[in-house]
Amino acid sequence: MAGRQRWSSRMIFLFAAIGSAVGLGNVWRFPYLTYKYGGGAFLIPYLIALLVLGIPLLIMEFAIGQRLQKGAVEAFKGVHSKLGGIGFAAVFSGFVVVVYYSAVMAWSLVYLIKSFAFKLPWAENAEGFFYNNVLNISDGIGNIGGFSWMLFFALLAVWVMVYFCVWKGTKSVGKVVMITMPLPIILLIVLFIRGVTLPGALTGIMYYIKPNFGALLDTEVWLAAVSQIFFTLSLAFGIMIAYASYNKETSDITKNSYLTAITNSGISLFAGFVVFSVLGYMAHAQGVGVADVVTSGPGLAFVAFPQALSLMPLAGLFSVLFFVTLLSLGIDSAFSLVEAVNSTFLDKSSKVGTKKVAFYVCLVAFILGIIFTSGAGLYFLDVFDHFVTNFGLVLVGIFEAIAIGWIFGAEKLRSYINSVSDWKVGKWWTYAIKYVIPVLLSIFVITQFITEIKEGYGGYPGWALALGWLSVIIPLVIAIVWSIKPTKVEVNV
Ligand code: TRP
Repeated sequence: MAGRQRWSSRMIFLFAAIGSAVGLGNVWRFPYLTYKYGGGAFLIPYLIALLVLGIPLLIMEFAIGQRLQKGAVEAFKGVHSKLGGIGFAAVFSGFVVVVYYSAVMAWSLVYLIKSFAFKLPWAENAEGFFYNNVLNISDGIGNIGGFSWMLFFALLAVWVMVYFCVWKGTKSVGKVVMITMPLPIILLIVLFIRGVTLPGALTGIMYYIKPNFGALLDTEVWLAAVSQIFFTLSLAFGIMIAYASYNKETSDITKNSYLTAITNSGISLFAGFVVFSVLGYMAHAQGVGVADVVTSGPGLAFVAFPQALSLMPLAGLFSVLFFVTLLSLGIDSAFSLVEAVNSTFLDKSSKVGTKKVAFYVCLVAFILGIIFTSGAGLYFLDVFDHFVTNFGLVLVGIFEAIAIGWIFGAEKLRSYINSVSDWKVGKWWTYAIKYVIPVLLSIFVITQFITEIKEGYGGYPGWALALGWLSVIIPLVIAIVWSIKPTKVEVNV
């Protein structure tokens, strides 16, 4: 049997893991959540969630992938023969995410193409341009609105790119991430310098960093912060497990985890400065408060950033650079999920071949993604994003922590981690995995569940919410069926 595919160096693994973590989640999702939940009100729960859940879970996922040398499904089967469903639920949730995530990449591609115009077409009205020209948004989720060939082809192009990044497994991924990881960081620095020198920038930044302790009593804010941590660190998607499984068993786990987590959140915080200085500028220009300057929601980065770009000298050039940034940010996150799916198939049988699996994964994701290119696309995106991240990921996180903490044994995993790592993890980690994480996450999920059963979400009609719930319930049901069906005796050749 040909051995497991490997990263060609530890640095390549780190680039790939950081590349997966750092994505649109940092520049698009993090700022819009921060804005939605009132700036500084969001940062405290975010940072606490990073320390209490994010880092311990990342250490856990890296460790389990590297120790068992398997993708998510087989790794959890390795923990217990009935637990493969946890891995499946993780990869399924990741698949839902990548379907709408690629639609956001498609918006970026449309902007990139439009950036070549002689005069930036959104210069006068960035908000109107995004909603009307790019999205052609309908008046509600019940009205599918027009179909946009432009977005359709952009989505197709995104998937063709993703495919060619993963088609040769770690070999091609390793090459691509050498560019797609550092490039966006450099470009963000340029945008930061422009942002903070705009008039009004300081007001925006104050809104961003001024803590609001009152908001800490709201469980919704906590859940949003927790789910953003999952999203941004690519946790509970099976991604980090798969990536770590291509490491040698002796790679340093704690260093890898701290480096990934800190770089990733550092970039989010940094991108926040860029977005909020621009929001401050817009508030200044329109004479309104920062809180009222744009409609909050998933469109934020596509209004604030383009606006900022049109204010720069050499606006066209910077726009091109910026949208290349967004695409390169997104692409290594998107293909990390395709890799996670690939690894689950390739673990089963090395005969199917990476290229073929990658092709079908990309094809199905593309087809499902077409709904997000319709006039109602943004509403669907909001619904799926809400349910998968707030419920799907958090539930998978609970199951993962319980399975590792109680069935595999957190202490056993900890002694493995410490045997390969220079920086040792203390006993606190075991408590975090066994008690703190499952208990806290359960509290958030249950409270939020009760609120949503009473109040719904975002004013969407029942059928739309039901679709959202399906994306949570389907993987759960499959995971449960998986664990109660009698185990086949598997013959391993
Ligand atoms: N971590 C990525 C980001 O912050 C997003 C991400 C996580 C993702 N899991 C994913 C994207 C799965 C696509 C598929 O942007």
